[in-house]
Amino acid sequence: MNLLFMGPPGSGKGTQSKLLCDRYSIVHLSTGDMFREAITNKTEVGMRAKSYMDKGELVPDQVVIDLIRAKVTSLSGKGFILDGFPRTVPQAIALEDLLSGLGLKLDGVFFFDVQKEILVNRLSARRTCRKCNQVVSADDVSKAKCAVNSDGCDFYQRDDDKPEVIAKRIQVYQDQTSPMIEYYKSNPNFLKIDGTQPADQVFQVILNKIS
Ligand code: AP5
Repeated sequence: MNLLFMGPPGSGKGTQSKLLCDRYSIVHLSTGDMFREAITNKTEVGMRAKSYMDKGELVPDQVVIDLIRAKVTSLSGKGFILDGFPRTVPQAIALEDLLSGLGLKLDGVFFFDVQKEILVNRLSARRTCRKCNQVVSADDVSKAKCAVNSDGCDFYQRDDDKPEVIAKRIQVYQDQTSPMIEYYKSNPNFLKIDGTQPADQVFQVILNKIS
């Protein structure tokens, strides 16, 4: 099963990817997570990506395409969820070439529709655990249990979840990524989901479609 999750920043792509990967043992391919890991490891790709991410801009297409090509090719046919890629029409065309070259196709394209005001609230409140990567809203930090450390979670706020960068990311999404909705609408497996529903209800909609 190969899926594509698309939608604006904060629409729930990462949250739903994690739920589905736990359920089906498929691989979560998040380009944002890959870049954050590369930044932590201070690799050349990471340092290059950071200069764009800090400003809320997109990393150049060719850098992202090369990264995804290497990851998808290394999966040897194992199912995956693409989260945050493609984000431009040239990236979508490169993905089509890559998948057809590997004899693969997308079995589902899910678009999470969420209004701007809700996105801003969610992103401003998002906290991520340094140890287990769990993502929660600031209101839920005290209730969170760490999946890898009995001392509890160590939450931080992403640099690009600061107000001025959030506004830029949403603008970049509207200008450069939203045209992809038209690109994928004709795919018979395209589904627009109301991403403002509680996360467990969104998950149920995805499960129903997959089944
Ligand atoms: P990336 O990390 O991909 O960020 P993003 O697409 O902006 O998406 P987010 O991770 O912010 O949001 P999400 O939809 O996953 O929401 P989440 O589930 O966390 O990319 C970061 C940067 O990397 C980009 O800006 C760019 O510079 C670069 N980059 C990455 N890919 C690239 C590409 N292909 N090309 C070029 N550059 C690229 O949820 C958010 C919050 O809401 C959480 O707190 C969560 O708990 C909460 N929440 C989730 N669902 C619900 C719900 N249903 N109800 C209530 N709360 C919810």
